[in-house]
Amino acid sequence: MAKKRILSGMRPTGKLHLGNYVGALENWINLQDQYESYHLVADYHVLTTDLSTDEIYNNTIEMVIDWLSAGLDPEKAPMFRQSKIKEHTELFLLFSMLITKARLERNPTLKEQVRDLNIENLTYGHLGYPVLQAVDILLYKGEVVPVGEDQLPHIEITREIARRFNQQYSPDYPVFPEPEGKITQFARLPGLDGKRMSKSLGNTIFLSDAPEIVTQKLRKAVTDPLKVRKNDPGRPEICLVFTYHQKFNSSETKEIENGCRSGLLGCVECKLKCASKINELLSPILEIRRGYENNLNKVIDVLIQGESVARKVAETTMNEVHAKMKLG
Ligand code: TRP
Repeated sequence: MAKKRILSGMRPTGKLHLGNYVGALENWINLQDQYESYHLVADYHVLTTDLSTDEIYNNTIEMVIDWLSAGLDPEKAPMFRQSKIKEHTELFLLFSMLITKARLERNPTLKEQVRDLNIENLTYGHLGYPVLQAVDILLYKGEVVPVGEDQLPHIEITREIARRFNQQYSPDYPVFPEPEGKITQFARLPGLDGKRMSKSLGNTIFLSDAPEIVTQKLRKAVTDPLKVRKNDPGRPEICLVFTYHQKFNSSETKEIENGCRSGLLGCVECKLKCASKINELLSPILEIRRGYENNLNKVIDVLIQGESVARKVAETTMNEVHAKMKLG
């Protein structure tokens, strides 16, 4: 049976943190054998919230280095920049006719952004963010979209656009699949202050953090405020460090939980254990990263190769769209 196709992407905003890893990248890596995967650098999407383009190139390179270092394999999963495949702009125009302004205004992810970033004058392009994302997915006929939880509303809009196109222009057989979102158990990893891990909140651990930085950051992490002295009993269920143990040290969680509750395990020791587990995960990633940092051409080659694969798929889809829409 043919493998199902994955399409997923991230905006290039720089180095990735553990929240990005756990929420999406780890999943991409785990799924790359089972699916036919395509991964896109959503560089146009950056412009929806930041018009300055100075950092996009560097941020793209940093992000792709993280993808590669964490284990995404370009032979299995082509990686490409959205802006290098011009079919995105064309299909964006066509899709923008298939969804109402009111529907886009109801998008909860947009509402959250408008609130968090204090946006007073929403642009047409920002309102259309999910339309461009629908293009990203459907141009490659993505069926499965592994993303963080905040992206599910965009996948719902993608399904609606696919359905609308199919009804209107291809009632006999669907040109576009209705893709499904796939989220992980830790789709929203908390940051070091217990809030959502996010670069803008300064509460992240980066995949590229050196071991001593990780240890230092964890030392400052918030734990149960009632566990003041080492031997006070703690409440793992409200402790952020315990959440990290569950994710990064699953074999010892029972022991950590008992130690914390009984008061035998102090926070300092618990945090050090946690840091060392995270460093075990990160150290091979860091090492591969160094190699790419010293050979940036390799990273650029990965993109150029990926773009040539992606372009063929995009062209084929657009030919089909043109035929169905009788656009000559
Ligand atoms: N909007 C996604 C995010 O902010 C990034 C993205 C762009 C994406 N295009 C995509 C994710 C297509 C999945 C599929 O994380």
